[in-house]
Amino acid sequence: MAQRETWATRVGFILAAVGSAVGLGNIWQFPFKTATNGGAAFVFVYLLAAVLIGLPAILGEFVVGRRSKLNAIEAFGRLNRPSWTIVGALGLFIGMWILSYYSVVGGWVIRYVFGSATGAYFGNPGEYFGAISAGVDAIALHGLFMLLTAGIVAFGVEDGIEKATKLMVPSIVFILLALAVYAATLPGATDAYAYYLNPDFEYLFNNLGDVVPFAVSQAFFSLSLGMGAMITYSSYIDGDESLPSDGATIVVLNTLIGLLAGFVVLPLLFAQQGGVSETAAGGGPGALFVAVASAFADLGTAGRAVGVVFFLVVLIAALSSAISLLEVVTSYMVDKYGFDRKATAFGFGAVLFVVGTFSAANTAWLGWFDTIAYKFLLPVSVLLGVFFAGWVLGPVAVEELRKGTGGLTRFGPAWLWMLRTFVLVAVLATLLLGVDTLYEMPPIPSL
Ligand code: PHE
Repeated sequence: MAQRETWATRVGFILAAVGSAVGLGNIWQFPFKTATNGGAAFVFVYLLAAVLIGLPAILGEFVVGRRSKLNAIEAFGRLNRPSWTIVGALGLFIGMWILSYYSVVGGWVIRYVFGSATGAYFGNPGEYFGAISAGVDAIALHGLFMLLTAGIVAFGVEDGIEKATKLMVPSIVFILLALAVYAATLPGATDAYAYYLNPDFEYLFNNLGDVVPFAVSQAFFSLSLGMGAMITYSSYIDGDESLPSDGATIVVLNTLIGLLAGFVVLPLLFAQQGGVSETAAGGGPGALFVAVASAFADLGTAGRAVGVVFFLVVLIAALSSAISLLEVVTSYMVDKYGFDRKATAFGFGAVLFVVGTFSAANTAWLGWFDTIAYKFLLPVSVLLGVFFAGWVLGPVAVEELRKGTGGLTRFGPAWLWMLRTFVLVAVLATLLLGVDTLYEMPPIPSL
């Protein structure tokens, strides 16, 4: 069998993982969720969730990946009993489920890069979005996004994903910084910052039962947990670098980039309408594709340039996340069946394109897929992963985590204890609170 691929460098792994983490979740959802859930008070809860739950959980995935040096499905079986592969299979399934509609949104973003250049949506952003979000065009652009994703994955771990993300992640940071500087010059920027960061603890305490699970789920999604992505990426690590420090770097960068996105998006909204409108506050597609788009329309000629750059950065972020999802299944088929990487990437890209056509044909489907993933599938999968690392691997996990840390003696056991108790309970609570609202879940849309 051909030798399994690895990252060329440690930075390559970190940037690929950051690329996976930083996506629509950061630029689209995080700023709006923050703004409407108590500002800095939400950031505070999110940080706690990211550090106390997200970080231990992501380290659990890294341990599974690096220890087994296998794809996210077989990894579980290799480390314990074959029956555990079902947990990996669930992750793979969720990843594909999510990629199917993530790609549809990616297609919208491609459209808006060009739409900004030509001012296509400047006349009536709301109507424009309504017209392009579903239908033949949406399907075609979803196909294009999937093709780009598969194209990168086809080139392989080092020549495809690593090279691409090494370019993409710094671009994301650089472009967002430039946009934030520009946004600071807009009228109302100060009000926007005040709105964004003013900690509304009263709101937080009155809505604790909603805000906390919300922040936790956001952390899961944003850190790409529960979908095999981080297991797969860490399985390509060659050598014993310190996983805790890599994990911390990834969590910190992911959070900072989410915060930075708020410094771009909120001043734009304040400049356009003096605040966050209902459309934007909902955080749904309207937030980005109508509310923020309206701000570009108002800026006239400058808005075209800024709009192109803005949607370009969203596109890069979405693409660097999408590749990590497609890599999960690709890695599995290559490892297990010795499939040709290119054929697998394009083949599964095609399958997911077909699944995604539901979402591209009707946004009600997109919402349905998303809600099920967010509230149910994701916490279940994270829960099983945490249980596996904490209770099934246990000391083996600690041993793996310790490698390359230069004798990090206390952290390992503390991490295991956290994983076994607090993290497990917190994930379970998030799941139950989510399931509690299952009754409110949208019914399966009609065809
Ligand atoms: N973390 C990505 C985001 O924030 C989404 C994602 C989830 C990507 C899971 C890969 C795996 O948009």
